[in-house]
Amino acid sequence: MHRADRHPSRRAFLDVTGATVAAGLIAGCSPDSAQPDRPAPSTAATPTPVPATGRHQAGVTLPRSAQRNLLAVVADLGTAVAPGPLLAELGEAIRTLTAGSDSRLLGLPPGDLTVTVGVGPRLVRTADASLPGAADLPRFSRERIASQARGGDLLIQICASDALLVPVVAAALLDRAGDRIRERWRQSGRRGTNVSVAKGLTAPRNLLGFIDGIVGPHTTAEQERDLWLAGPPAVAGGTLAVLRRMELDLTRFAALPVSEQEAVFGRRRASGVPLSGGTVASGPQLGAKTPDGRYLVPVDAHVRRANPNVVGVGLMLRRSYSTDEPAPGLLFISFQNDLRTFTATLARMDTSDALLPFTTTTASATFLILPGFDQQHPLGSHLFG
Ligand code: HEM
Repeated sequence: MHRADRHPSRRAFLDVTGATVAAGLIAGCSPDSAQPDRPAPSTAATPTPVPATGRHQAGVTLPRSAQRNLLAVVADLGTAVAPGPLLAELGEAIRTLTAGSDSRLLGLPPGDLTVTVGVGPRLVRTADASLPGAADLPRFSRERIASQARGGDLLIQICASDALLVPVVAAALLDRAGDRIRERWRQSGRRGTNVSVAKGLTAPRNLLGFIDGIVGPHTTAEQERDLWLAGPPAVAGGTLAVLRRMELDLTRFAALPVSEQEAVFGRRRASGVPLSGGTVASGPQLGAKTPDGRYLVPVDAHVRRANPNVVGVGLMLRRSYSTDEPAPGLLFISFQNDLRTFTATLARMDTSDALLPFTTTTASATFLILPGFDQQHPLGSHLFG
């Protein structure tokens, strides 16, 4: 934490933040600054804004390092509600909220706020049952999911560096939707400090202490191939999201020696380097063995069971958030252009991934993340226009 945050004495403040803020403080003492509308001087660096409009929605690949705070709200639409106008209104509210021109932001700077909207399989089927996103997620092992926390018609994913924005934006969007939607479940999450993984690529640690989010479609070519839907036109520029809230047995995991924790994942805990060697950015060498013939990356290690080449699927973009309430764990979030990328991976993990016995899944849903939008092409208009 910034020293000035804990000891907001004027002395420390001046020492740490320097002349610019000092000037602001002095101005703050002048009668001029007593004007009620004048914003107080800010001490934190303002995060770079993320455009809400474009070919893709924000909050999937942008910002490149995911913001620290998330709230995912999952809701159902009333049976008589037309999705088209509702989504268009939500898109318009997202545009004004992220631009900072919406009075419901109550003057808070939007910073790097992103809002990402997806529609669940039932709604996709009402448009066209042959579209990607029309299929429900199957059931898997180690699930303890209340019916309320399975599936849903609408995902609103809100992310921001400033934790304060998240509930304010959620309230604004839910107010806009009014009684047209009924909330099903919501989950907030946080990401730890980013660790540099490769040039321009960072990933945080999860609650088990391991760097999470290393392997994925990080280049534009990989994203075109495995992340974004190329068509049909109703979904082009969108993607498929999977959300799984997984409780983690921290106590049992923490009781293992570090070497056994590393064997669960197949990577070093401190550095993220695969147990087969190289750097954190190296892929695990699954054929590499010890002189006495044992695999360096154990047969049940998570990175072996989930390896896309072994499973025979494309890359998924994992952008997960750690949870505290209702229980410590991970809100696993992946984006991919083929649901099979997720289902085939988890089906393979289900039989013998060393990580799974530490997890219990308590919420599960998949959504078609709608294509990007702008003022001429409202959110959802490609699908429900
Ligand atoms: C609480 C549950 C989970 C935790 C804590 C977890 C954590 C991790 C960690 C630390 C890595 C290694 C570093 C990296 O590449 O990011 C990893 C890799 C991976 N995980 Fe998970 N994961 C979880 C669940 C899942 C699930 C449900 C799936 C998908 C069905 C999945 C798919 C993957 C994939 C595809 C990789 C990359 C494997 C590779 O090619 O090396 N994970 N995960």
